[in-house]
Amino acid sequence: MYRTNTCGELKITNAGQDVILCGWIQKSRDLGGMTFVDLRDRYGITQLVFNMETNKELCEKARKLGREFVVQVKGKVRERSNKNFKMETGEIEIDVNELNILNRSEIPPFTIEEDTDGGEELRMKFRYLDLRRNTVKNNILLRHRVSQEVRKYMDSIGFVEVETPVLIKSTPEGARDFVVPSRMQPGTFYALPQSPQTLKQLLMVAGFDRYFQIVKCFRDEDLRADRQPEFSQIDCEMSFVERNDILETFEGLARFLFSQIKGTEFPEPFLRLPYHEAMEFYGSDKPDLRFGMKFTDLTGLAKGNGFAVFDTSEYIGGICAGNCSEYSRKQIDELTEFVKKPQIGAKGLIYIRCNSDGTFKSSIDKFYSPDELKKWTIVMNAAPGDLVLILAGGKKKTLTALSELRLEMGNRLGLRTKDKFVPLWVVDFPLLEWDEESKRFYAMHHPFTSPAPEDLELMESDPGKVRANAYDLVINGVEIGGGSIRIHDASVQKLMFKVLGFSDDEANEQFGFLLNAFKFGAPPHGGIAFGFDRWVAMFGGQDSIRDFIAFPKNNSGRDVMLDTPSQISNKQLDELQLILGNKK
Ligand code: AMO
Repeated sequence: MYRTNTCGELKITNAGQDVILCGWIQKSRDLGGMTFVDLRDRYGITQLVFNMETNKELCEKARKLGREFVVQVKGKVRERSNKNFKMETGEIEIDVNELNILNRSEIPPFTIEEDTDGGEELRMKFRYLDLRRNTVKNNILLRHRVSQEVRKYMDSIGFVEVETPVLIKSTPEGARDFVVPSRMQPGTFYALPQSPQTLKQLLMVAGFDRYFQIVKCFRDEDLRADRQPEFSQIDCEMSFVERNDILETFEGLARFLFSQIKGTEFPEPFLRLPYHEAMEFYGSDKPDLRFGMKFTDLTGLAKGNGFAVFDTSEYIGGICAGNCSEYSRKQIDELTEFVKKPQIGAKGLIYIRCNSDGTFKSSIDKFYSPDELKKWTIVMNAAPGDLVLILAGGKKKTLTALSELRLEMGNRLGLRTKDKFVPLWVVDFPLLEWDEESKRFYAMHHPFTSPAPEDLELMESDPGKVRANAYDLVINGVEIGGGSIRIHDASVQKLMFKVLGFSDDEANEQFGFLLNAFKFGAPPHGGIAFGFDRWVAMFGGQDSIRDFIAFPKNNSGRDVMLDTPSQISNKQLDELQLILGNKK
């Protein structure tokens, strides 16, 4: 037997037992006649003791152990004289009587400690060492737990886990595909799924009724903290349902996960916020509702007083940041610089400070009387001590800039805490997006998203106004999931393709397999997919999904450990009949 116990489980009640432990050397300390060694495995750390007086030879062997050596020790559990109550095993130590070195290790390129000295790139290159660190290891264990809870819940309500292929045809999620050349049919390519969207719809045609899968998806798009080129979805689809059935079913999943993983319960039903209200009041289709600062439209009140900036603006909007009586002029200047950054794009920031004596201090005192400013502060519910911040300009741009300012104020005032969760459904998205450049409509989700039944008649007369029967689950400003009721009626699908400018031939070429299947009795169906990595990272209290993926890619999509993407041999290129553009 290699080991009788793990390094995380021995307690004072085990004192006196003979045990065998295996693990990695975390560190060792020589104190006079004694050598103390911390032995680490996945479960924890146990202190080993070697005594020069009682066993000189063994103690000398222990003194030569390097960091990350793999060892097996045999010995007796005994109570520690100097207890460490911060450690699970801190009340005991092992009085070692046999030490076997199972493998040696080179000196690791960074310390395997909570606060490591290794930079990001180095840790990624030696990811298997990074994964030995507690924080990263715990993230992966959390991921495992969440996936088990998802499977438990989905199984309990009759969902069947079905695997779908990875070598498929392009899917309509709107990013670029990763493609794989076929050797057997030279000149042709598979695409890796951006999601199993069309396949899960085929499973509904096949009668599976309730499907789910924790599945890898691949999208060749620019990366951010919450985006990886390959990521995982909890992908789900149901038959014979309307929107409300889906929202209720998956609100159930969200509640279950929060309860199991975080011990958080939500007494109220999740808010359902129409897309246009999310945009109008928060400037974002994924509003962070952990805090208020809802926008107030001041256009009507503020225009027409001779202040050119406002008079020439399409939209004037403000937020009340709450009590900021301590806020200095310098801090307001910093905010002004923030909104003027090119990525935010506002021309300037106007503020009104509501003094505790009922007077106002603002950057537009010259143009507006205290009585006028008072009217604004009343509509904004601003109290003495509060700070009002106003942006003006074109409507779309200003709403977006105000959204960034709102989030920045939320951060600065400490309102975006990681232990508070506010989920909501954003519903009634527009079905189509107009693209000025190509002068055509694009599907905001994908071309199988059903229009809201009551807007069907607008499909031809005013397509831009049609709402989609689509929904997103948003938690703390993160889009955790999204889905829709699908079109299952051939005539509606035909209309959709027409509005999107697809000819019958084009539609058939891209989605013929699905359109054909729909001729054989497609049930009404709909579904949703959740960003699994995002959900786990949120449970782990972090914004970046990278540390919740065992072997992630870096910001430029590279796996620095595997050193890929990389070139392939000329033989492989020849077999695939590929000629590279730069190949001489
Ligand atoms: P969508 O494209 O909205 O919908 O994706 C669903 C969820 O997947 C997550 N996500 C990502 N996570 C990490 N890295 C990425 N690059 C990435 N891209 C998306 C998000 C998102 O909400 N087939 C539809 C779902 C459906 O209609 O049922 C789909 O894929 O959390």
